[in-house]
Amino acid sequence: MINFKKEIAKQISKNVDISAEQIETYIEVPKDSSKGDYAFPCFRLAKELKKSPQIIAQEIEQKLQIDQKVMEKAEVVGAYINFYINKQTLAKEIIDGFQTEEIADEDGESDALGTEEKVSPSPEGDTFSSVPKASLSPSTKIEQNIVIDYSAPNIAKPFHIGHLRSTVIGQALYNIYKYLGYNVTGVNHLGDYGTQFGKMIEGYKMWGDEYDIENDPINELTKIYVRINNLCKEDENVLQACRDNFKKLEDGDEYCTKIWNKFKELSLKEFQRVYDLLGVTFDSYNGEAFYSDKMDEVVELLEKAGVLKDSQGAKVVEMEDKNMPPLIVIKSNGSTTYATRDLAAILYRARTYDFTKDLYVVSYEQTLHFKELFEVAKYLGLDEKYLKGLEHVPFGMVQLKSGKMSTREGNVIKLEDLLNEAISRAKNIIEQKNPDLENKEEVAQKVGIGAIVFNDLANSRIKDEIFDWDEILNFQGETGPYIQYTYVRTKSVVEKAGGVPAVDSINSEYLIDEYSTNILKLIYNFEDVLVQVTDKNEPSILSRYLIDLAKAYSSFYNENKIINDDKDIQNARVYLTFMVGTVLKTGAQLLGIQMPDKM
Ligand code: ARG
Repeated sequence: MINFKKEIAKQISKNVDISAEQIETYIEVPKDSSKGDYAFPCFRLAKELKKSPQIIAQEIEQKLQIDQKVMEKAEVVGAYINFYINKQTLAKEIIDGFQTEEIADEDGESDALGTEEKVSPSPEGDTFSSVPKASLSPSTKIEQNIVIDYSAPNIAKPFHIGHLRSTVIGQALYNIYKYLGYNVTGVNHLGDYGTQFGKMIEGYKMWGDEYDIENDPINELTKIYVRINNLCKEDENVLQACRDNFKKLEDGDEYCTKIWNKFKELSLKEFQRVYDLLGVTFDSYNGEAFYSDKMDEVVELLEKAGVLKDSQGAKVVEMEDKNMPPLIVIKSNGSTTYATRDLAAILYRARTYDFTKDLYVVSYEQTLHFKELFEVAKYLGLDEKYLKGLEHVPFGMVQLKSGKMSTREGNVIKLEDLLNEAISRAKNIIEQKNPDLENKEEVAQKVGIGAIVFNDLANSRIKDEIFDWDEILNFQGETGPYIQYTYVRTKSVVEKAGGVPAVDSINSEYLIDEYSTNILKLIYNFEDVLVQVTDKNEPSILSRYLIDLAKAYSSFYNENKIINDDKDIQNARVYLTFMVGTVLKTGAQLLGIQMPDKM
């Protein structure tokens, strides 16, 4: 496909003494497309060439040799040269490049992002279950390993709304890196370690049979924990027994390990229900406990580096910035910390995965933890490239429209309840709008979950997320359901036209109106958008893009008669519709949103 930006850069660089690569980084895309499709601002050249940017713009423009097939025209406005691409070439390039390419999955069946995709439209009507992957095919493999640490709930504790963001953002990043061809490892760094398990084991020993932990593990374990905690406050002997349990657990005692395993297994079973609803998967569940026998090495390495200091009985590493508290590696009671396990995990991941990036999708509340962690990691003797790859990907809080949604202490909203409520609210809306719809349950699930996931990814992740039921389920708003609705519309347009027209029947001349061009420019940018997502680890760039594309299609739909007496016009517009549907579906799936066929 023609790279318009590169073409422009090449032409400009012929006339100034700056490389095309450098020029390319200066080229902008004007917000208002009446100012051209690309613009080259000449400010930066002014100093070097010792002329005013306006003069430079004129001089460059006069010498430009524009290939009319690529660029319709170039115009100087002030210090800018604005470029207008040849719309028909754009249309033709995209249509020709929109090759259907299917990927074979492990079972050898063709599959795009886990859904069944066939290329040829079946006469029976279900044209779009056949949306192919099209030119949106992932680029060639990229020989880089990306580790993404996300979700990471704490076992025997509720999987609450605070973990939602990590799970959803992490999975979206996972999908997008993978789609671009990276080798990605998703790690669920479970919180399955700590002195509280010594307490829970003691509580379970005392009253285990009073609680139905098989059926409602997390609620029941929480009750046991509260009860034993209270008892510990009253009875020093019980507290000691709890401490002993934890020590035994660390030493691999059979009974303690067995019970702890049971807590873990039951918790994971409960988490799994949430993961299934969200379509979330991991390659590794190596949580904190996995590192219990890997921390001695961390202590040795830090000692060898001479940075481990004694401080009131604890062993700590001081930060370069003395305003930051020291990082505690061994507490005064001899036990290790969350940070020690994270240091062990960095060593392990560097050796096991040889990562280029090791991303931690964790709330902004842990910013200090990761800052200190990455600083101390310098003393582990790792290659510089690993240190460079460590990155905290923080995100803001979830807030109910009326105040904070979950606090550490009280009113914890369970994620599973939230998801189920979204599904039932979606079901109610469907009942009202389209009572005769088939598979209402399935559609309600896709719409409800899609609404929550999209809301979570709609704005830059660092912003607090506002949670408002009416807003996230509004089919006309900037929401997941709006994208699904637009997709369903593209599908029904194609069906009405009798299927996807053959590519060679499309005349790109019919796709040069303003509305078609807007869409084509967006489709042209799809891969670039994904690259931007991975540059910034910011899935909202894709969310915004999908909203823009859905809106551009709505305008196109309102302004252009698609089903048309002129079959050539119809074919071109239907094909454009098909491409929009394909991009919407692919993009939504990357975010973790499933598309219904009808809604
Ligand atoms: N379990 C932790 C929590 O709920 C999150 C762990 C994040 N990952 C990490 N490697 N520290 O706060």
